[in-house]
Parts: sequence; structure tokens; C-alpha cells
Amino acid sequence: MCGIIGYTGKEQAAPKLLLGLKRLEYRGYDSAGIAVFSDGKFSVCKRKGRVSELGGAEKLRGGCGIGHTRWATHGAPSERNAHPHSFGRFVLVHNGIIENYLPLKEECEARGEKFISETDSEVIAHLLEYYDRGDVLSAIKETVARLKGSYALAVMCRDEPNVLYAARRKSPLIVGKGEEGLYLASDVPAIAECRELYSLCDGEFAVLQGDNIRFYGEEGEIKKETMKLVSKSDIPEKGAYPHFMLKEMHEIPAAIANSLINFEDDFCFSGINIVLCQTEYIQIIACGTAYHSGIAAKYAIEALARVPVEVTVASEYRYRDPIVKKGTLALAVSQSGETADTLAAAELAKEKGATVIAITNAPDSSITQIAHFVLFTRAGREIAVAATKSFNAQLALLFSLATALAKTKGRQTPSLRPLPALAEEVLTEAEKMKEIAPILLGAKSVYFIGRGADYCTALEGSLKLKEISYLPSEGYPAGELKHGTLALIDEGTPVIAVLTQEGLAEKTMNAVFEVYARGGRVILVTNLPEYAARKEVYRSILLPKCEELFSPILSVIPLQALAYYTSLARGNDPDKPRNLAKSVTVE
Ligand code: AGP
Repeated sequence: MCGIIGYTGKEQAAPKLLLGLKRLEYRGYDSAGIAVFSDGKFSVCKRKGRVSELGGAEKLRGGCGIGHTRWATHGAPSERNAHPHSFGRFVLVHNGIIENYLPLKEECEARGEKFISETDSEVIAHLLEYYDRGDVLSAIKETVARLKGSYALAVMCRDEPNVLYAARRKSPLIVGKGEEGLYLASDVPAIAECRELYSLCDGEFAVLQGDNIRFYGEEGEIKKETMKLVSKSDIPEKGAYPHFMLKEMHEIPAAIANSLINFEDDFCFSGINIVLCQTEYIQIIACGTAYHSGIAAKYAIEALARVPVEVTVASEYRYRDPIVKKGTLALAVSQSGETADTLAAAELAKEKGATVIAITNAPDSSITQIAHFVLFTRAGREIAVAATKSFNAQLALLFSLATALAKTKGRQTPSLRPLPALAEEVLTEAEKMKEIAPILLGAKSVYFIGRGADYCTALEGSLKLKEISYLPSEGYPAGELKHGTLALIDEGTPVIAVLTQEGLAEKTMNAVFEVYARGGRVILVTNLPEYAARKEVYRSILLPKCEELFSPILSVIPLQALAYYTSLARGNDPDKPRNLAKSVTVE
């Protein structure tokens, strides 16, 4: 949801800002812009579209500047609405949402001030100018005290040409020291060259000047601990792959292997083991793909540990006054650890007395500051907007948790160890989706069906296809098709059926027959070859056998591949789907 960057130092700022923005582009790519201070004024270059559209920006001279890559919330993607925004002596970039910008804007307009953009962010520059009485930090403090919502802010003032000011509330912000200057950014890889990194917390401010970063909290100046430094592998590189999404799919076996946890064997999980022993009820809160991993976890936990699990989309949980009973464990699942709805839902669960375990792929993310315990999926950084390996990693971790919980209840559990090697096999088979994808091209809509654990795969397959191919698609429990959606099946409608639960196979096949009888084309993803050979099946993908409850970790791979190849066949960029961003830090 927008990426911001800032640099002040001995070298030219523009090339550093542009490189950082490239690395932040996964957060939004509706417009991009930079502002650099030189010769007593700010030079601004901004354009609609991606960072690559900022031709000529690298020539802006000056050693201090800020930059922004936008995911539009208020105001269309356009040059006019692109950041940086300026007013009077101030220029700024903002990530977040100012919920009360309209009354604030009216207040500024009543003073005769003119606005250029339709954004919520521009009002911040106006307030800064209003509150500035010679001390910029005080002006920033007074300004943010008026704001409702979320912000990560980088501010420059014409009167202090080489100083960067930063402020944060509910949007991530990192500051760092490099060999040749000081940096700030929404995320670590953008400033990976830094040798010291600090993460700002809500309500904190930073002033970057000369060789020094000074931090301030509500009470005045504070000291902060440094963060772990980034390794080279944290810097996103496509390598030999044409897209991050394909690269990340090929990293699935490693992501699974690295995210499996043996809770009993490791002393550092003793706190979580105690929590598991006391757990009587589980609430899983998450959004999008992470929500789908929660559904698969529900099937596994209930079957293996016989502990009831409720899975709720975080944006619903936070507003529905959920019932949190004694012994409730809330699992807040978020790849980025920054999803605004998931953070709010986790806070609410905690407030209501649940023990909160965050499951995230992002060390130092905001969710780690909320939860009682944190479990890290070790998928490695994921850049493509469509989640792939992080989903498989979430499943590996959640299934590990399901088996640990089952053991606390004295129940037998199946082994997770074969999964990484099996995922390797599935990746090879999934390449067949390249030939199958063209079947979807002329379709008005595409349906995904499955029962039991396969229902989760159907939902995730459908989401992937929607996100990057822009084809209308729905995922259903196979048994639900006949209750309405069957009316939409006609000659040639593609239906992807997932079939890995032997005991339910006949039942799912009934839905396949119903689709076939109405002219639909069934693509079957199964580990039961006898069904793949049926005449009603138009094309099939064969999976290796694994413990049925864990099968989504494998069966989703061909569906990820189907979405990828369909996206390519439709001429889309699978890494950067329109209207979306990787980390959804706004409501
Ligand atoms: C997945 O492909 C999506 N881009 C999206 O649904 C994502 O899973 C969702 O926004 C949640 O993100 P999180 O896991 O970072 O919280």
C-alpha cells in the first residue's frame, strides 16, 4: 500500500531513491515520484504508472530527497495525485490513510489555501505549514496529533535542506545508516545497503541529519535498538526467471521444508507448548490467501486434535464483537505482518483475553509487536503480489501446529516430513498447466470445486486466477454447485475440480458428472488416477499421494501454475496485477 523512501547524505539522492522505489514497487505501482532539494528549491518529478516511467528523474541533482510509489486510495492514479505533495515550505510522501482528511481540508480551504490533488495526503503538507513556527519537529507533532488513520511520513522543509523527518502510526517505517548517508523506507530491502537499521514504532519520530539519526517518542528523545541486518538473499532478484511469481513457486519445496516445526524438540517453543496444552478453542483470523490457509488448518486441527476451530476474515472479525471464551487461542496469519485488518483483529482478540500467536513471514513486522507469541514461516521474501510459496509455508507451519496440538491431547499424528520432496514432484507435473491454460482464455467465468480439505484449494485456486488473469472466477464446496451455481455452467465452461480425499471422491465426482452433462469442461487435479481416466474429465493433473488432510499444500501448486500461465496468455504481468498491492496496510 504505497512505498516511501528518503535519503540524505554525501552522494546524489535521485539514483538511490529510484533504486529503493524499484524495490518497493510490490507495494503499489499506480504512480511514482521523487523530490530532491537543490539550489535552494525542491525539484519534483512524478508520473502516473511505474517507477520506470520516471525518465529523467535520475538527473535531478541534490543530496537529500524523498520518493513514493503509490497504490491509489483517494483520487485516481494520475500525475496530479502522485506524491510527493508540497505546500509552502514543505514537501512530503505518505503511506497510509488519513480518515479525517475532508474536514481538515475544509479547514485549510477556509483559510484560502488551494489544493492541487484529490488525495488525503496533501492536507498533511498544509497542516505542516500552518503549525510551523520555526521548529519542524514540533510542527510535525502538532500536525499528526490532528490526523486520524495511519501514516508513515517522510517530510522535508525548504529551510532545512539536508534534513529528513519521519513519523509513523500503523504503517511500517524503517530508518538506517549507510556508508554514505542516512535512509528511511517502508521496508528493509529498499535500503538493504544500510549497516544499521531501526524500526520506528507507532507514535515515534526520527530526524535524519548529517551522520546522526535522533529518535523521539511522546516524552522526548529516546534510544532505539538496532534491527537485524539484511542478508543479500533479502534483496529481491528474479535471477534467471522471467517473473518473481514463477521463481517463488519454484521455492515452494524449500519454503515448506523451512517452515515445518517440531514443537516438542525445541526448547524455544516451550511457551507455545504450554499454550497448546491449555487451548480449548481456536480462532483463526486472516485475509485473502492467508484466510484460505486458515480453512485448511481448520480441517487438519479439528480432525487431528479434535479442538474446534473458527476461521474468520479479519475485516469481519474486528467489527462483529467476537465471543472469546476462556482457553481461546487466536492465530493471526499474515504473510506481510502488516495487513491492517489482521492487525486490528489480533489486537481485538488480545483485548478480549485470547492468547494471540502471530504467524508471519516478516520478522520485525507490526504483527510481531501485537502478538503474545510469534511463529515465523520461513518462505523467504515474497515479491509477486499473488502469494504462492508463503501460502505453502503457512500450511506447513499450521499443519505442524495441528500435529503438536494433537500430541498434547495424546493423539496419533501423521508425518509431515515427505511434503517438501512431494512438492518438488508436483512442480514438474504442474508445468502441464501451460498447455491447459489456453482452455480458459475464451471463458466467461471459471469455477473451482472441492470437498473437505480440497475446498480450501478450490478457494485459493480461484483467488489466484482472479488476481492475475482478471477472469471472473469462484471457488465452491463441490456439493454446493447444485444449489445455484450450476445454472452458470454451459457449453465449454471450465470447471477445475480438486479431488484428493478418497472417502469423498465419489461425492465430488457427482458434481463432475453434473458439470459434464451441461457441456462444462472439467480439469481434474487429483491423486486418484482412476478418476482422471473417466470420459467426463477433459484434462487432468496427477498428484502424488500424501496424508489427505495435508493435501492442499500440494494440490494448490498446479492451480498457482494455471493462474500464472493464464495470466501470461492474456498478456498480463503476473507479478503486478492491476489495482492490487502486496501489503494491504489500509482498511
Ligand atoms: C494473495 O495472493 C493476495 N495478494 C492477498 O489475498 C493476501 O493474501 C492478503 O492481502 C493478505 O496478506 P497478508 O498475508 O500479508 O496479511
